[in-house]
Amino acid sequence: MQYEEFREAGHYLVDYIADYLKNIDNKRLFTEINPAELYKLFEEAIPDNPKSLSEIQSTIEEKLIPYCTHVNHPGYMGLITPSPNPAGILADFLASALNQNLGAWSIGPSAVAMEREVIRWLTDMIGYNDKAGGNLTSGGMMANFIGIKLGRDWTTKDHAQHEGLQGKWAVYVSEERHVSIDKAVDAVGIGRDFLRTLPTNEKYQLQIDALEEAIARDKENGVRPICIVGLAGTTNLGASDDLEALGSIAKRENCWLHVDAAYGGGMLLSNKYPGQLKGIHLADSVTIDPHKWFYAPLDAGAILVKDHDRLTKSFGIQPAYLTDQTSQKNERYLFYVHGFEQSKRFRSLKVWMSFHHYGKTQIGEWVDNNIGQAKYLHQMVIAEDIFESATEPMMSAICIRYKAGDLTKQQLSKLHFDVAAQIESEGQFWFATTEMKGKTWFRINPVNIRTTQQHMEQLYQVLKQKCKQAEVEIRREMITA
Ligand SMILES: Cc1ncc(COP(=O)(O)O)c(C=O)c1O
Repeated sequence: MQYEEFREAGHYLVDYIADYLKNIDNKRLFTEINPAELYKLFEEAIPDNPKSLSEIQSTIEEKLIPYCTHVNHPGYMGLITPSPNPAGILADFLASALNQNLGAWSIGPSAVAMEREVIRWLTDMIGYNDKAGGNLTSGGMMANFIGIKLGRDWTTKDHAQHEGLQGKWAVYVSEERHVSIDKAVDAVGIGRDFLRTLPTNEKYQLQIDALEEAIARDKENGVRPICIVGLAGTTNLGASDDLEALGSIAKRENCWLHVDAAYGGGMLLSNKYPGQLKGIHLADSVTIDPHKWFYAPLDAGAILVKDHDRLTKSFGIQPAYLTDQTSQKNERYLFYVHGFEQSKRFRSLKVWMSFHHYGKTQIGEWVDNNIGQAKYLHQMVIAEDIFESATEPMMSAICIRYKAGDLTKQQLSKLHFDVAAQIESEGQFWFATTEMKGKTWFRINPVNIRTTQQHMEQLYQVLKQKCKQAEVEIRREMITA
């Protein structure tokens, strides 16, 4: 091991990253290169000709960095991947060096203690008491999977872990759910045909009467409720269900309530909009992704559980080779006994360092700035009659669509896809498109420390100009067709 080379390359890399972040506004946000060229660029046999770290760094600067999607760029307002905070970046560097394996106490005592404390911060934010527990995961997908499995196991009185699922059971969620819920009901053996995806109201919240009807219909047909999933921040729009109503229905039906706050969990940090996730403490389990709206670098998701014992009941299998025989009073916590993953990266370090470096109030200010930016765009939209905004933003996600009177649904969809693609190709902004209630929308979602209201103004001007131009082209094609 050449420590001096490591030291030199490391110093260079930290300088490189500091400059990268400082000058991020000058970068083209999204690459122009086509996928085939990129695959070609990386095509080579397994290297067997050792190179210096500085040579490798040059190759990285030449082949990798120019073709990244620069989510740190203030114009990135796309799929929910934040600009990572710099303290979190350093934390991940150190976590790799220490390589603590959080599965077992014996491979990271202080890291396990830190992780448990970070989990406690998150459960405190929800309003759980000290019976609560949890686990940091690769993200919301895995956390939702664990939440649904916990629900399956609790509602079936811990039989499903052994016998498999007996009888017919259903899971209830709004049509605005994230796809992780569909994957989870499949993975735990409930079956996607038993996922009831229910309509939403004008604010894109689950319609409670539709939920009541679906449960009643199922029960008449011998299908029992196993889990209700509440959404606290939908992927499309940041809509939050009536969690108090869901809590009382789940209690009455004796089934599990899981709340997906993968994105919306950031609202728990907001200084300006407290109490937006009212009722979240009623959930039996909650997903929150620090790698979304806590501005932590990937990956850091979390499953948080009201009663820690449920984790042990669902996952507590302890083979001899993983039993910690030296733990006299059972105080050497083994994450793998209380979770799905075994080898587990030291994810809490970046969350811990972020809170220590910036403090909760500052992170909450970033959240509030992002909410303000979405609301500002909404105000610009409703002040003119060019776009429609799905609803007043409740979080930092906003969906808008171009109004072009008599164009067909297909023409309008194409217009939105074409404009998004054009804006992507210009490299100043990136946002997604989506479908809601049968219509195509631009989905714009700042989760970014560097975005300002000025960027929203610029984006709005670009959208207006591009959409009008695209409409003219479509009409011209209609005349010539
Ligand atoms: C509401 C919601 N749940 C779950 C997920 C999945 O999270 P991850 O991508 O961290 O696995 C997402 C991702 O955007 C989400 O928006």
